[in-house]
Amino acid sequence: MRETVRVMIPAEKIERRIDEIARDVSRDFAGKTITLICVLKGGVMFMVDLARKLNHTVELDFMDISSYGDSTESSGVIRIKKDLENPISGKNVLLVEDIIDSGRTLTRLRQHLLAQSPACLKICALLDKPDRRAVDVDVVKPDYIGFVIPDEFVVGYGLDYAQRYRNLSYIGVLEFHEE
Ligand code: IMP
Ligand code: MG
Repeated sequence: MRETVRVMIPAEKIERRIDEIARDVSRDFAGKTITLICVLKGGVMFMVDLARKLNHTVELDFMDISSYGDSTESSGVIRIKKDLENPISGKNVLLVEDIIDSGRTLTRLRQHLLAQSPACLKICALLDKPDRRAVDVDVVKPDYIGFVIPDEFVVGYGLDYAQRYRNLSYIGVLEFHEE
């Protein structure tokens, strides 16, 4: 099988959208220190680009999780491979995710973070595939969304297929062709 990537969201469009999100975040967190939490590895590009556009005091922390279940469906049971380095109790937290698909991962992650009593917890996702949602939509409503996309498997700008394509500057649809 040969793989190609069809451009869905070009790099310039991602950058413009992150400008807008940064403005919204700055307004909502005015006068506060923001603790950005990135979910590795997919959220990394988005987090660093967003962080550089925030005219705030910003702290960065990272989590790495894996979800049990088969490879195409997340189960919602998450295993924490790397937890936060610093406590978030009393902090103003913005969770930065690459993509919300079924919403199961985010539901569990949200519970995990809320249990640590942050002053506030907002959720930011670069991409949202609402057609795929398998959990209560009100529970995992992100506060900031980059782009709503159709139910297609996308790669690039942090997102991978078998650990590849994360370094693309754009987001594209992965397509398979018979040789
Ligand atoms: P959820 O628990 O089903 O919402 O799973 C979300 C996670 O699945 C994301 O953080 C991604 O790691 C992965 N994922 C979902 N859709 C895609 C996609 O189209 N491309 C790459 N990874 C994806
Ligand atoms: Mg992810």
